[in-house]
Amino acid sequence: MDQINYEEIKTLENGSKLIGELEFPKRKVWVKTYGCQMNYHDTERILTHLTPLNFTLTDTKEEADLLLFNTCAIRDLANQKFYSHLGESKHNKITNKEIKIAAGGCIAQTESKELLNKYPQLDFAFGTDVIDNIGEMVYRTYAGDKKFAVTSWDRSENYSIETQITHGSPQAFVNIIKGCDKFCSYCIVPFTRGREKSRSITEIVNDVARLVEHKGVQEVTLLGQNVNSFGKKNGESLAELITELDKIDDLKMIRYTTSHPYDISDELMAVHGTAKKLSNHLHLPVQSGSNTVLQRMLRQYSVEHYLDRLTKLREANPDIVISTDIIAGFPNETEEEHRATLDLLDKAQYDFIYSYNYSSRKGTKSARMKDILTNDIRGRRLREIQAYQLNIQADVRASMVGKTYRVLVESFGTKKGEKKWKGRTSCFRIVHFKAENDDVDLTWQWVNLKITSATALSCQGEIVQILGKR
Ligand code: 5AD
Ligand code: SF4
Repeated sequence: MDQINYEEIKTLENGSKLIGELEFPKRKVWVKTYGCQMNYHDTERILTHLTPLNFTLTDTKEEADLLLFNTCAIRDLANQKFYSHLGESKHNKITNKEIKIAAGGCIAQTESKELLNKYPQLDFAFGTDVIDNIGEMVYRTYAGDKKFAVTSWDRSENYSIETQITHGSPQAFVNIIKGCDKFCSYCIVPFTRGREKSRSITEIVNDVARLVEHKGVQEVTLLGQNVNSFGKKNGESLAELITELDKIDDLKMIRYTTSHPYDISDELMAVHGTAKKLSNHLHLPVQSGSNTVLQRMLRQYSVEHYLDRLTKLREANPDIVISTDIIAGFPNETEEEHRATLDLLDKAQYDFIYSYNYSSRKGTKSARMKDILTNDIRGRRLREIQAYQLNIQADVRASMVGKTYRVLVESFGTKKGEKKWKGRTSCFRIVHFKAENDDVDLTWQWVNLKITSATALSCQGEIVQILGKR
């Protein structure tokens, strides 16, 4: 089947759906997602395509008719986890011969043939740019097609979609740009996600307005591998997009991720001071505090340029908090280059960092560099970076104590034996707090919280005022 016409799907008396010539009885799908927010967002989109094919979600592999892996290739650890889970899935095929198993996402994009050859239990593989065709692939597999791969690229300059959400929460991810043209020397993403393509501002603004009006969305996170390149190919920009979204009446919060420091324009930095709904948090990955390492990473900026961006952002919005990504032990990184990263942590005063050991990815430029660093050295440097940052972070966060923040309450749960609510500030910090009466459901309500204690890893607060759902 080339394309399923969803409008023509009939429901039969026995509860099955009739699609083309095939009956689709009620079935269950089990999904495992690895990696970044983009992958989780893709999984949600995949599931919206499977509902019309009579699938519902299960979290038990044993009762599933279809196992779906949405994979991540960013570091070797993510690959190894997936290979091991896929390996284990052969038992599901032994106990249930009818089960179908599929792998999609970043590893499947570049390794579909190897996966299909190596794992006999795998029925099909699909790449990152074809997720809207998952219905057709599932149809094909039930029609009897065996061991096929769909990994084609959308070759158009820009793209058009409508955001699909299945959950009832007021927080939604909205894809605005896909792919990456940067080719940082260590990164597999340009190979797994293809060339940069943006949606248009008009389409996104209409999309978000619809989510706000009809789905109760109040907070959007604009997603892309490099959102700062948004709109480049059609003369639009992220700054303009945010300015337009800021005008949507009942939208309360706009976040965006992930940014590249080279592309963050003066205009965008100014928007951090003018857009009322823009979050007070920015994730701006630096990767290293050494100019020579940044050059070998092909990052296109210097430490000085990066720090100047931070100063300008903080001038535009004095409440802004910044987080970053750091790679420890890039090939041949010297002790001095490593210490330059610690030095940068002092200067940047990050609210939190994600830090990783360098992982060599096949096909990238840095994978071809002769590298003298050992895993022990990498591990030690990573631990040093993390310990160093924790001290800084404790100080950065201590300054919150006594201040009041507007928080969107996300959930209720047990933390260290105590029942507490959990909410998030505009600056993305999680705050735990108790309410007088646990029977009042505060989920997705806005509250004003006064911070009573803040350490490097946790913030506690108390309710000043319950503001309600909007
Ligand atoms: N090794 C380690 N970390 C990597 N990242 C990307 N590629 C690699 C790699 N090969 C990190 C970067 C990026 C984050 C999403 O993952 O810090 O910002
Ligand atoms: Fe990878 Fe660099 Fe693109 Fe980020 S900007 S996805 S690190 S190539």
